[in-house]
Amino acid sequence: MPVILAIESSCDETSASVCVDGQILSNVIANQTIHELYGGVVPELASRVHQQNIVPAVQQALLNAKVNKNDIDAVAFTRGPGLLGSLLVGVSFAKAFALAKNLPLIDINHMQAHILAHFIAEKKPSFPFLCLTVSGGHTQIVLVKDYFDMEVIGQTLDDAAGEAMDKTSKILGLPYPGGPLIDKYARTGNPDAYTFPEPQIPGFDFSFSGVKTAILYFIRDNVANNPNFIQENLNDICASVEKRIATILLNKLKRAAREYNITDIALAGGVSANTGLREGLTKMGVDNGWNVFIPKFEYCTDNAAMIAIAGYHKYLKGEFAGQEIAPLARMPM
Ligand code: KG4
Ligand code: ZN
Repeated sequence: MPVILAIESSCDETSASVCVDGQILSNVIANQTIHELYGGVVPELASRVHQQNIVPAVQQALLNAKVNKNDIDAVAFTRGPGLLGSLLVGVSFAKAFALAKNLPLIDINHMQAHILAHFIAEKKPSFPFLCLTVSGGHTQIVLVKDYFDMEVIGQTLDDAAGEAMDKTSKILGLPYPGGPLIDKYARTGNPDAYTFPEPQIPGFDFSFSGVKTAILYFIRDNVANNPNFIQENLNDICASVEKRIATILLNKLKRAAREYNITDIALAGGVSANTGLREGLTKMGVDNGWNVFIPKFEYCTDNAAMIAIAGYHKYLKGEFAGQEIAPLARMPM
């Protein structure tokens, strides 16, 4: 019954989780609101807030799980990819805790962990499955052959899907992070009110820079004619943008599923919290006879529970890291 303490600090959420024998007993997430002032994550500020939040987050995670710190068997942490200063806080905490308690360390790849979050739920995908991983920094279609054997078969050539959401919301004058707000306004908008182009990229790769520019020009031209254009049409704009981003993602996913002849299809990463994308994938799954796996909301955006479950499976494999381990801003699958 391994007891694993897990730490996530790759971007702007400080998170700690406790997992006992593969069951998540706590998942504490401290969000950082300071970045709203700047319209995006300011790396130096993020690492300073991580420093303030990390000890209370771990204490709360232990308290919620009713686990004593002397009962922990291993410390799992996000090694990368992410913001180096943010990662450093989590990695340093994990190393110090492990050193003080003489515990093994388990280093985790954040992008793999987003996918492994599917092994928290009762209903788990079977290998091999395809996972569309969509976050603020990544957009990937991953062929998942085993827990730690994953192949990226398609990815964005420029902006990530979440970045496209966040940049659109910035153009609309909404605060950061804009993805959840686009989702909120889209619920009462008409997704067919405006159409934006679907890029024609070969293979399973994506591109969002053309869509972003099309949205920018569309807003600029309409605001030139009517200064109240955004306020008067916010819901329709958000619904139309959400629909285009979701269809770009889902059309590629459908082609990949056909080409690889795979019917277990999963969604992961922060943008998987998006209602339009979740509904679109659910419908596509019914139409194509897929088993669709969509994480619970709390396991979509950055969280330490996904690091804990990944850590549990690495613990079972007996793969540990040494005290010399360092964070990686870029880290391949
Ligand atoms: O995985 P994540 O929490 O952090 C990264 O590793 O990047 O993803 C954050 C991204 C942001 O771009 C945010 O706007 C987007 O996920 N996001 C959403 C929603 N919730 C979060 N995008 C659309 N709809 C949402 N409901
Ligand atoms: Zn993430």
